[in-house]
Amino acid sequence: MDVFGRGKVILLGEHAVVYGRPALAAGIERGARARVTSQGVMELVLSPWDRVVTPGQKDELSRAFAAVIAEQPGAAPARIEIDVELPAGAGLGCSAALGVAVVRALASAAGEAPSDEEIARRALAWEKVFHGNPSGIDNTMAAHGGIAVYRRDRPLERVRPRKPLRLVIGDSGESASTRLMVESVARQREREPVKADKTLDAIAALVQNAKLAIEEGDIRALGQLMDMNQMLLGSLMLSTPALEEMCAVAREAGAVGAKLTGAGGGGCMIALVADEASGERVRGAIERTGRRAFVAEAR
Ligand code: PMV
Repeated sequence: MDVFGRGKVILLGEHAVVYGRPALAAGIERGARARVTSQGVMELVLSPWDRVVTPGQKDELSRAFAAVIAEQPGAAPARIEIDVELPAGAGLGCSAALGVAVVRALASAAGEAPSDEEIARRALAWEKVFHGNPSGIDNTMAAHGGIAVYRRDRPLERVRPRKPLRLVIGDSGESASTRLMVESVARQREREPVKADKTLDAIAALVQNAKLAIEEGDIRALGQLMDMNQMLLGSLMLSTPALEEMCAVAREAGAVGAKLTGAGGGGCMIALVADEASGERVRGAIERTGRRAFVAEAR
């Protein structure tokens, strides 16, 4: 049986969420799929990267694997094969999707079916190996899916959209390290705490308004809030010329709003579109800049 960890996009609020502010995120249909192919040996087979990982090695993947095995009561040795449908290091929560898929596979090998909350909790151990100070948003969304407001150490707040959200996700092709981008914001906050906190508070206010816009089905208001969030992320030096170009191209092609998603410094951007035809135009416009894009729906 296949088990799944979802990818996610952060609609608004990345980085601010590390400092206890709320963020709005949505699970997407692409993610990581895992299956237990035999029992008796503990190993992880990552076909897309041609890697076989065992828990005893020193590299990050092995340590992450060991960390989630330690979270599994009565872990049974299992060979777990993984397929990933997300670019790595691109802000779509690839590592958390992998972590959640592995946690689910370990649970099924041990004859257990834990709740999504418990799956997310165990997968945080995986995330901690890759990202020094994860807010927990990626592993939570990878386990739950849907649209939600996430806040550190609070229960997940589900958001019911009046209309499904249609997004175009464009990949800048530049890979970025979440850890380094999070550290860069931490340094700015150390140097200028008042200024940084004002920016983070402004992002938090956009998130609260965006939640209302989603519930009311006000796509245009949501798009404007995303544009404002992008400006604030730019002021924290998280955007890049490629991401700016892609956002501009998306807006010119009819997107109602566009911003980077995830850690920034490269990775992906998202553009909000009003309908299918507009989505195709925006996707085409991004692809004509030589980058990859796909349409996703969040509901
Ligand atoms: O892992 P990414 O690139 O999807 O980014 C995660 C979002 C951050 O707010 C930048 C970090 C975090 O732990 O919340």
